[in-house]
Amino acid sequence: MNELKPSTHPPLFSLRGVTRSFGQIEALRGIDLDIDQGEILAIMGPSGSGKSTLLHTLAGVIPPDGGAVHYGNTALESLGETARARLRLRDFGFVFQFGQLLPDLTALDNVSLPLLLQGFKRRVALSQAASWLDRLGLADHRQALPGELSGGQAQRVAVARALVTGPKVLFADEPTGSLDSLAAENVISLLTDITRSSGTTVIIVTHDSRTASYADREVVVRDGRISGNANALRTPEGVHA
Ligand SMILES: Nc1ncnc2c1ncn2[C@@H]1O[C@H](COP(=O)(O)OP(=O)(O)OP(=O)(O)O)[C@@H](O)[C@H]1O
Ligand SMILES: [Mg+2]
Repeated sequence: MNELKPSTHPPLFSLRGVTRSFGQIEALRGIDLDIDQGEILAIMGPSGSGKSTLLHTLAGVIPPDGGAVHYGNTALESLGETARARLRLRDFGFVFQFGQLLPDLTALDNVSLPLLLQGFKRRVALSQAASWLDRLGLADHRQALPGELSGGQAQRVAVARALVTGPKVLFADEPTGSLDSLAAENVISLLTDITRSSGTTVIIVTHDSRTASYADREVVVRDGRISGNANALRTPEGVHA
């Protein structure tokens, strides 16, 4: 972790001079960051430093005020709301701290929902969802409602729901933030095992250094900037720009 690695291919995400304010608050003050395809990146930093804003900017949820956000060859700031929403549906999966499961649907129905929204037949969606729940150790909880699951089990359902569509990038904002350390480790180790084997790029915001230790690289955001920029940019020479 944290070493500069020589790189011969273009990054999947490339941010240059990205700024974003909310009224008087400058949440992002000039972010330069490259993220490789297949990389598992942890974003750390104090509360209010801009981590979630950075994640939402990468995911095309929040347009930046200034600077450039490239996803592959696409300049996200050049896309309108509809195009960004379409890109998110097609390429991105999301896991949040808690509360993202629909409380009246079973685990199985929660996980099959993204496939149904993509137009898959119910039988196919349910069978894919069941196999994802099995993979996350939840075979015995397919019919459970979210309120009947532990925090760790509910987060594993959320991970299954984020991965069931085979996203290219998984965004996770404090995915273990509401869990005790054992459950947190269980969720993060499953998440990183699965995404490493599929080559999925993962961007995890976390306060927890144990969770971050499962990533390939950590960056720290302070006051809207990447602190210690040495690892934020990777170039063919392996020297930061
Ligand atoms: N929608 C918004 N409207 C107004 N201010 C916002 C909004 N989103 C973020 N901010 C402000 O921008 C700054 C950065 O917020 P952000 O949520 O990115 O921090 P964070 O690092 O994720 O914090 P935490 O660790 O507490 O989740 C904060 O001062 C916050 O109050
Ligand atoms: Mg946050």
